[in-house]
Amino acid sequence: MATIAQLREQNPGQQVIERDLVATPLSHLTLGGSADADVLDEFLAADTIVVGAPMYNFTVPSQLKAWIDRILVAGKTFRYGANGPEGLAGGKRVIVALSRGGFYEDNSAFEHAKSYLQAAFGFIGITPEFVTADGIAVGPEQREAGIANGLAEVERLAA
Ligand SMILES: Cc1cc2nc3c(=O)[nH]c(=O)nc-3n(C[C@H](O)[C@H](O)[C@H](O)COP(=O)(O)O)c2cc1C
Repeated sequence: MATIAQLREQNPGQQVIERDLVATPLSHLTLGGSADADVLDEFLAADTIVVGAPMYNFTVPSQLKAWIDRILVAGKTFRYGANGPEGLAGGKRVIVALSRGGFYEDNSAFEHAKSYLQAAFGFIGITPEFVTADGIAVGPEQREAGIANGLAEVERLAA
């Protein structure tokens, strides 16, 4: 929410579309179906995408995974060329507001949220920016510090 408010302040005229993946969840991806094609169209039409991602069981919530399954589409956002995979969605700005209950080194064997999102967006040609609130479940002090850190990182997005 703070990230959206910050972006709105920077670009007052910008249209904002909200997709609530909890209130209106996408189904699990199954092959052969063309349902939810609007998700990809919406993504392709956007200049900036803000993703809210709490860490659940060391990775992203399954609702967000279902969304990513609609975004990583061969021939649309990536392709396999002579030199291997090639991202086709470069030029978009992706900001991930990531919150985690604990604290993780980037190379931790348990960290599959930030690393996954970096890899998934990287695969389609986007380097995501992260604003991170860590230690949310450790205790009240750490929670407060984690949220303050996240909000400070949101402020830095404007810089
Ligand atoms: C079902 C569930 C699983 C979670 N798994 C993890 C986890 O694996 N690692 C972690 O650091 N925090 C974990 N958390 C804590 C959340 O990442 C933390 O509370 C989050 O920042 C806030 O998410 P919320 O906005 O959905 O409450 C988990 C929380 C829930 C509810």
